Amino acid sequence: MEAGLLLIVQTIIVGLLAYVVIVLFLRHRERSKLPPGPYPLPIIGNLHLVADIAVHRPLQALARQYGNVYSLVMGCVPNIVLNDYAAIQEAFVGQADCFTGRPHFAIHKEISGGAGGFLNGDGSDWMELRKFTLRCFRGFGVGRRSQEGRIHEELRVVIEHVSREQERPFDIFNHLKSATGTSLLSTFAELDKFLEKRISQHKETFDPNNIRDIIDAFLVERNSCTNRVRTAYLLYNELVKGIHDLFLAGTETTSNTLYWFMLFMLHHPHVQAKVQEEIDSIVGHGRLPSMSDRANMPYTEAAITEMQRLANIVPIVPPHRVTRDTVFRGWHVPADTCVMANLRTVLGDGQLWPQPEQLRPERFLSSDRRSFIKREEMIAFGTGPRVCAGEALAKMQLFLFFTTLLQRFTFTSPPGLEAPSLEPQWGIVYSAKPFKLCATERDWCH
Ligand code: HEM
Repeated sequence: MEAGLLLIVQTIIVGLLAYVVIVLFLRHRERSKLPPGPYPLPIIGNLHLVADIAVHRPLQALARQYGNVYSLVMGCVPNIVLNDYAAIQEAFVGQADCFTGRPHFAIHKEISGGAGGFLNGDGSDWMELRKFTLRCFRGFGVGRRSQEGRIHEELRVVIEHVSREQERPFDIFNHLKSATGTSLLSTFAELDKFLEKRISQHKETFDPNNIRDIIDAFLVERNSCTNRVRTAYLLYNELVKGIHDLFLAGTETTSNTLYWFMLFMLHHPHVQAKVQEEIDSIVGHGRLPSMSDRANMPYTEAAITEMQRLANIVPIVPPHRVTRDTVFRGWHVPADTCVMANLRTVLGDGQLWPQPEQLRPERFLSSDRRSFIKREEMIAFGTGPRVCAGEALAKMQLFLFFTTLLQRFTFTSPPGLEAPSLEPQWGIVYSAKPFKLCATERDWCH
């Protein structure tokens, strides 16, 4: 009897809660005039509609029903979803002043001790951290030739490992992951050293009336009275968390992209042969490829860019947050609405890339095939002020790893086996499913 009563009370409470949530949402939507979208269920909102590990699929299906900009409620959090290049560009670039925030989830603060860091922070702390880190990157040559030596060292190790496989079928992923990870680690170890040096330089030239950047701000707070200690702690945390975020964002992305590149080589031997032809004529065999070769290798650059388009390892941009009430395409979007940008629809858009499922490096070549053509719609690294902070570093790693491997080896599917599946392994990063390949040393190596 008691159990029955408990059940009735629970049902009434859940029913009332559901009612309140629906009424609140409908009022909210009416008041804010958000873009159209499916009606949300109590508590879960529209979560049941996007409960697919390959989340871009339901997002695309909803776009067919509601258009390229629509609303979606995730739990109780209102979102707008952007599904084409024009909408993403309008929001992240055209209205960057209000579309550049990140959601403030309590869990982020718990994990990072209050610091938003690079990935999850926003506002002036994030902006300072981003400006400062990118300046540091430029300071010690990330993405430039001066950093090549470190990557070359890792590449020599990979070459040795791959040679040892002696044409036997093997999975190259772990070699790629440890080599890209190690080269990132040594970059960040230098970033740490650089940071220490900058802090001591700042101490020497510190002027409380002329605060130049985040380090000066940190010194001000640290030198000031105890009630500001927490702020100083937060600022310091921002710096440390920023480096941690860089490493986190960098390791999975580059190694997975390279793994895709290897898979594409098994499926497209003619592309592999053309890249090798270009490597042979521009780099030759007496040295490793260098970033200074890139400008003379339009086909290779086009192939890398096209493979990145097709791999599209970050299909949905980490959520943005609207920082203040705004009007977007005539809809009223209130502050704190989250924004999801579906890059998969952009990079697979048949209007922009005819027969988008095909690998065609020519999309990024001039009509005489002599120059690489940059295309604005190629936004695998995102767009606007939150564009990937590691883009230069990633591009450098991709170019050097890919060309060095193809300079020395030809990659094929193991004899008797068909080329492995191109279907991704769904997750936050879309990776290629595990596969084996054979690496044959090219004739010139013997
Ligand atoms: C092929 C490799 C990579 C791809 C495709 C990629 C893609 C992306 C994308 C789509 C975003 C989200 C942009 C947005 O929120 O609007 C992003 C953000 C970010 N990426 Fe990458 N990334 C790659 C490699 C890297 C590497 C190597 C690093 C670090 C060294 C890195 C560090 C970051 C950071 C820190 C952010 C957050 C930036 C911010 O919120 O201000 N990424 N990346």
